[in-house]
Amino acid sequence: MSSHGTPIPMTSHPCGPLNGVAEVPGDKSISHRSLILGALSVGETKISGLLEGEDVLDTAKAMRAFGAEVTDHGGGHWSVHGVGVGGFAEPEQVIDCGNSGTGVRLIIGAMATSQITATFTGDASLRGRPMGRITDPISEFGAASFGREGGRLPMTIVGAAEPVPVRYVVPMPSAQVKSAVLLAGLNAPGQTVVIEKEATRDHTERMLAGFGAEIAVEETEQGRVITLTGQPELQAQTIVVPRDPSSAAFPVCAALITKGSDVLVPGIGLNPTRAGLYTTLREMGADLVYENERVEGGEPVADLRAKYSPDMKGIAVPPERAASMIDEYPILSVVAAFATGQTVMDGVKELRVKESDRIDAMAVGLRANGITVDETEDSMIVHGLGSDGVPGGGIAASHLDHRIAMSFMCLGMGAQAGVHVDDGGPIATSFPIFEPLMAQLGAKLERA
Ligand code: S3P
Repeated sequence: MSSHGTPIPMTSHPCGPLNGVAEVPGDKSISHRSLILGALSVGETKISGLLEGEDVLDTAKAMRAFGAEVTDHGGGHWSVHGVGVGGFAEPEQVIDCGNSGTGVRLIIGAMATSQITATFTGDASLRGRPMGRITDPISEFGAASFGREGGRLPMTIVGAAEPVPVRYVVPMPSAQVKSAVLLAGLNAPGQTVVIEKEATRDHTERMLAGFGAEIAVEETEQGRVITLTGQPELQAQTIVVPRDPSSAAFPVCAALITKGSDVLVPGIGLNPTRAGLYTTLREMGADLVYENERVEGGEPVADLRAKYSPDMKGIAVPPERAASMIDEYPILSVVAAFATGQTVMDGVKELRVKESDRIDAMAVGLRANGITVDETEDSMIVHGLGSDGVPGGGIAASHLDHRIAMSFMCLGMGAQAGVHVDDGGPIATSFPIFEPLMAQLGAKLERA
């Protein structure tokens, strides 16, 4: 179900080899940030390769509501005429961020130090997710928040009239929280310092520097210390959004588990804060090669070639790698079913507060398809059945979670019997071309 639609039941039937080139859409994290930073800049930011998924389109709408001029020129080309740091107007309507935790948390950060009031909501998934992790730090800047029980949306934020800079230690590994604090720090005088114990995706830091902010990152014994000087004049940029490594994970992993496959996924950003899945797959024995490695827009990029890999072995994924592959555990748990031995995924309790409780959603859906899974609050263990041994044939619930829906669609491709998902609608939030792209490679997907 899209944020406004009816459920779309889907089936993925076992298929022959997946072959060809999979051009996945633009990076979701960078797309949100391009629109928000463009809106906070002076002049016209030009964006190409923007992900036109529902999550990002909701952020585009929100930036218009805060006064920026956001224009879709077609074919992934967009422009944003910004209002400058501190220039946000008060929205006249409730801001609906749909399914997007990244959208709502970053936007709340960006408006929290302006003297305006805004009310935020989202779909049933987003309304169930914790916002205390954002309202705590913005209160230190002087903003107030009024939400539902447990700090849930809908929520009204009253921006700080006289913001003060903060020093904030992020209590959980979260790029959204880190980014919200940095965006709030933009309109506070003086230096805002954010400390993260574990490195998370660093797009906000890189992009803030690109837009002309004074930002320094220091690795210390306490972790990464990020110091931002407030009230800069951000300069409009030209941004080419790289293709999303989190979306690339689906055709790559589908190829690894589907007999005879050979798929090329070109132009994938391999920023080390995002590439943990690919390291893990190679450690499991996947036939996954980086071709044409290069640097584009300051980011490492490669073409990924993935071939059917019948000899993969389960491993213990190092918990310190979790942040660099946090969105990829659902699809890794599918690959793990086709490996031999156990794959142990530890230190992953953040998965419980994503678009769904991803540990639970995967464990229940995998069991329904004949796979044994153990879980604790903070871990998941998949007992692999080997390349030929995954029964499939079950139904999985997607819980309004795009990555759960796509993971089970991939499971069906390599299993002995098709896999059904109760609702594939959420796929449109991040990967609107998933169905035609996978079909063109040879997948047999069907809407019931
Ligand atoms: C994101 C951060 C991660 C990730 C999400 C995108 C971002 O969330 O799961 O899909 O763009 O900053 P957390 O900050 O909750 O870990």
